[in-house]
Amino acid sequence: MSRRAAGAGRVAHRPRRLTVALAERSYPVELGAGTLAGVGAAVARRTGASRVALVTVPGVGRRYAARVLRSLRAAGLRASRIDVPDGDASKSLGQVKRLYEAFLDLGLDRGSAVVALGGGMVGDLAGFAAATYLRGLPFVQIPTTLLAMVDASIGGKVAVNLRRGKNLVGAFHQPRLVWIDVETLASLPARERAAGFAEVVKAAALWDAGFFAGLERHAEALRELEIRRLLPTLERACAIKAEVVEQDERESGLRMLLNLGHTLGHAVETLRGYRGILHGEAVSMGMVYAARRSEQLELAPAGTAERLEALLVRFGLPTQLPWFPRRAYLEALRVDKKSRDSRIRYIVLRRIGRAEVVELTPAQILPASWGRRRRPGRRTRGAP
Ligand SMILES: NC(=O)c1ccc[n+]([C@@H]2O[C@H](COP(=O)([O-])OP(=O)(O)OC[C@H]3O[C@@H](n4cnc5c(N)ncnc54)[C@H](O)[C@@H]3O)[C@@H](O)[C@H]2O)c1
Ligand SMILES: [Zn+2]
Repeated sequence: MSRRAAGAGRVAHRPRRLTVALAERSYPVELGAGTLAGVGAAVARRTGASRVALVTVPGVGRRYAARVLRSLRAAGLRASRIDVPDGDASKSLGQVKRLYEAFLDLGLDRGSAVVALGGGMVGDLAGFAAATYLRGLPFVQIPTTLLAMVDASIGGKVAVNLRRGKNLVGAFHQPRLVWIDVETLASLPARERAAGFAEVVKAAALWDAGFFAGLERHAEALRELEIRRLLPTLERACAIKAEVVEQDERESGLRMLLNLGHTLGHAVETLRGYRGILHGEAVSMGMVYAARRSEQLELAPAGTAERLEALLVRFGLPTQLPWFPRRAYLEALRVDKKSRDSRIRYIVLRRIGRAEVVELTPAQILPASWGRRRRPGRRTRGAP
């Protein structure tokens, strides 16, 4: 965090609130700097619970759990911390079962709530446990990664992985409250930070050209987590996610736009075996590819991809798809493994600020010219 940002304790930054409007499932997203110690009363008010399980990972809990627990207790709640091991491998049915057992040990009943403190992994896992334990307990998100703040904590999708794929078992379980303290980002590794900005850029690219221009104006300050810039930026990114979710809670149409960059992004993650690449990095590559392909298909004006790429680079993100044989990409893209030609709902850009779904086959997404152009070391290959 920059010096200016570190001064947030002295300079008061107006907290912001937005609402995810989903009729009786509506909830506030509270954004602030240095607000962690104030979460307790809001949890009590929004959940009506008397007992709370705070689920976190050791690295995050060590830094922030004490403040949250103190605040919960000060608000009259009986609160206990439960740690799960760090890493996406913890998004498993095995860990869900461990959480159920821990909930039982703590005596969590219908008058209890689950609070997730951490990144998207903790939110998805604790949220899934909250959605299913006793057929559903009130749930609160305290996201501590940028990605979780602007993406995973809003929208109510909770899930765990199976060995054969990510997020294959899940539910829709909207939180009662999302509490964002941007000061927690100070301890987030730079690479994780950049990966979070990929989803911020994505939100701007698919929804709001003015917001995109704002990111272009302030990319370096944002990278430095300058709170004066960061708070309104997160507010807008959260609001975009909220708007999309409000219009399509169950992902039947519009919400698909949030998958901009994710088709190829997921393919890259799969081909890399989820090793050595962060989700946001893969999305960054997939987005630039989608923009380029949109230009080739004459759906977006020339220069769209270049502008998008330039911004992502300023956030420290990679933008080139790693080389794998074209057939490996096609295989990874095939949702219906039995049919080569089944169409994929691919998100294209019409321009900066506007995305659209088109149905394309994997071979249309990655035309034959792609493999020829990108193969590295081609000229020297086969040389003695
Ligand atoms: N539900 C949704 O809509 C949705 C959307 C996007 C992603 N996701 C899920 O979110 C997960 C990815 O989330 P993520 O990127 O936050 O990963 P993560 O939760 O694994 O966190 C990344 C790393 O940062 C550490 N960390 C978290 N907060 C920190 C802090 N403040 N300071 C220092 N270290 C900190 C974590 O311990 C972890 O090592 C994936 O499981 C993905 O499937 C869900
Ligand atoms: Zn994503």
